[in-house]
Amino acid sequence: RIAGPSVLVLFGVTGDLARKKLLPAIYDLANRGLLPPGFGLVGFARREWEHEDFAQVAHDAVREHARTPFREDVWRQLSEGVRFVPGELDDDAAFDRLAATVRDLDAQRGTGGNYAFYLSLPPKLFPTVVKQLKRSGLAESTEDGWRRVVIEKPFGHDLESAQELNAVVDEVFPPQSVFRIDHYLGKETVQNTMALRFANTLFEPLWNRSYVDHVQITMAEDIGVGGRAGYYDGIGAARDVIQNHLLQLLALVAMEEPVSFNADAIRAEKEKVLSAVRLPSDLATGTARGQYAAGWQGGAEVVGYLEEDGIPADSDTETYAAVKLEVNTRRWAGVPFYLRTGKRLGRRVTEVALVFQRAPHQVFSQTETEELGQNALVLRIQPNEGVTLRFGSKVPGAAMEVRDVSMDFTYAQSFTESSPEAYERLILDVLIGDPPLFPRQEEVELSWRILDPIEEFWAKQGQPEQYESGGWGPQSAHDLLARDGRQWRRP
Ligand code: BG6
Repeated sequence: RIAGPSVLVLFGVTGDLARKKLLPAIYDLANRGLLPPGFGLVGFARREWEHEDFAQVAHDAVREHARTPFREDVWRQLSEGVRFVPGELDDDAAFDRLAATVRDLDAQRGTGGNYAFYLSLPPKLFPTVVKQLKRSGLAESTEDGWRRVVIEKPFGHDLESAQELNAVVDEVFPPQSVFRIDHYLGKETVQNTMALRFANTLFEPLWNRSYVDHVQITMAEDIGVGGRAGYYDGIGAARDVIQNHLLQLLALVAMEEPVSFNADAIRAEKEKVLSAVRLPSDLATGTARGQYAAGWQGGAEVVGYLEEDGIPADSDTETYAAVKLEVNTRRWAGVPFYLRTGKRLGRRVTEVALVFQRAPHQVFSQTETEELGQNALVLRIQPNEGVTLRFGSKVPGAAMEVRDVSMDFTYAQSFTESSPEAYERLILDVLIGDPPLFPRQEEVELSWRILDPIEEFWAKQGQPEQYESGGWGPQSAHDLLARDGRQWRRP
């Protein structure tokens, strides 16, 4: 799988995502030999830069953030195809210059007339760019040249805005040319969910309501809002990651086996799950939200969310969100799926845990089984990627004491191949035109249908509960599980 000749036009080149992820990923692809000689990269931004200035910015980003070692020859070959177009997004002349630049590059590098437009921009700017791409003729595919558009989340901030956004994109690009990025789907461990379930016979017989007590999906971050106040405030944890990453994880865990590994087949199965998701009848007890207060993290004192740069002192944006969902299918009816995410938590960890029912009868007396928890299968999405199986085992010695132990699979130990960064995989798929890892509009809409009532409920609740930085979230999130006689795993 190697990309064919093509040009990637990147909007938002001065942003964090471009510097930390996108530009390094493009270099890593080149370094792994996955980009053809006929590849061009065009940056567009409101900066008075020459081509060389952008190439220098890209170079610095690569040196700082690329996964693979820096190789002068790879960089030189790649940088010969780097161009920059300065301009405003609403300036027709700037887009005409962009069109001329792309066509020149085409002629010079032999990029085959294939163009991908990557919109690493706030969603309110998508309509302007998409319309400009149409007006300047750039969006129009030719007989042998394809056009693709890549949009970064968030896809709207509720169902209605997502539909509006889609209508704009839909007018210019056919559905098969639209690639919606949910970078979690580019992660090896997320893709492995399907391999684990459907390439083995071991797990699937247990993967249902007869054996699974409940499922916990955790995405914990130790970082705070950082320099992203402008984006994050008013959006909050649930719109930022539950609507997309966590519901995608839920869909992959709960879905039926697709008839093939074909994009439509996979998406159809995920959509069935998302349309079967039910909210708790009482949102006050079935959801929880919080906002980080000051505290200690990694040995340093950190400020609370309301003291962060750029955050209004009375912001009611949540930085932690938890929700209990059910999936109304024959496989899952009655099994709660608890989703939680938060910033400034104890450590950075993303995992999916299937917690199994307790043995129906314990032959070991209470004291002997005191430490015995429930069997669990944990998909460790990050860090320390792998899978853990937890079960009880006899403690060596004269007494019949049983204690929980783990059986671990770790990527780093089992494979010599290194995992590509999520964005590497996704950019490559865009250039190849391979859609299974990109959610389609129906999934986006179904996810908003799940989230909208929760957001409406929260909007009436005022200030979220404060939780200490470096801890594990607000009390209400612990109560949410405690009411069900369960507790959050301590990853
Ligand atoms: C992004 C969110 O989608 O995912 C960020 O907007 C979050 O708020 C990030 O920090 C986390 O990504 P990862 O790959 O580090 O888990």
